[in-house]
Amino acid sequence: MVLIKPAALNATVRQLKIFEAVARHLSFTQAARELHLTQPAVSMQVKQLEQVVGMPLLNQTGRRIRVTEAGAEIQRCARVVMAQLVDSEQTLREMKRLERGALHLGVTSTVNYFLTPVLGAFTREHPNVDIHLEVTNRGMLLDRLSCNEPDLVLMGQPPDDLDLVADSFMTNPLVIIAPPDHVLAKKRRVALKTLSNQTFLLREPGSGTRITMERVFDEQQLEVSSSLSMSSNEAIKQGVEAGLGLGFVSRHTIANELELKQLCELRVDGFPVLRQWYVVHRADRKLSSVAAAFRKFVLSESRRLG
Ligand code: PGA
Repeated sequence: MVLIKPAALNATVRQLKIFEAVARHLSFTQAARELHLTQPAVSMQVKQLEQVVGMPLLNQTGRRIRVTEAGAEIQRCARVVMAQLVDSEQTLREMKRLERGALHLGVTSTVNYFLTPVLGAFTREHPNVDIHLEVTNRGMLLDRLSCNEPDLVLMGQPPDDLDLVADSFMTNPLVIIAPPDHVLAKKRRVALKTLSNQTFLLREPGSGTRITMERVFDEQQLEVSSSLSMSSNEAIKQGVEAGLGLGFVSRHTIANELELKQLCELRVDGFPVLRQWYVVHRADRKLSSVAAAFRKFVLSESRRLG
């Protein structure tokens, strides 16, 4: 299929601007004075614009100048273009000062426990930035990264097979949780092999927490006798509280439940398992000023929160 595009008028912004001033003043001299140009420079630009348009734009009889019908059309076009340029300049200035812009973030459901208050602080400082936040598991975020969708991703260990820029911003301690009245809750030390006859509540396939748990248990040659799969940290915490089994979660997800003594952390040998969280973007993506500012904000907030 051949696509026929309508030909665009090949005028420059400079020609339009000069012509608009001449048409407004009906005088080359006054236009030249306003634009700090010489009168021959103004005449030359108008002549060139007439050549581009292929029609006279001005009618001159003696000292009297009139704008032709074609000239009136070009004058209208020049005003629209100049108004649009002023608007764009203002928008760009606001973008530079981070008063505006959009930020597309992808975050694992586990990191989201850390992110929510950080995002609150960021939006208080930059109220006109539009934030689009996708909370999902690691597997889904890797798909998004390979399609280059989010500006930034906050997640556990980044994959090796994508060219990424990744900075670790926080330690992620992974722990085993139980209801406070669980028989293992009172033990000062729990050997890992004791856990093999326990039921575990696992995150869904694709979850980074689940992958880490499988790796740790594999390394320790621990086979769990029974398990249930659940698609969120909240469901796991509620299930553990209800006595359905033990959970393997990030300590960052259970601050409230520990404080309210609804859950407890078992003192298992080799735990907590320490992992890192990273703020990540594709190496081939140039970050917008908003994304760069948010990345810096995450790194400094995490340092501040220790
Ligand atoms: P997820 O998060 O279990 O919610 O996928 C873990 C991670 O960030 O790797």
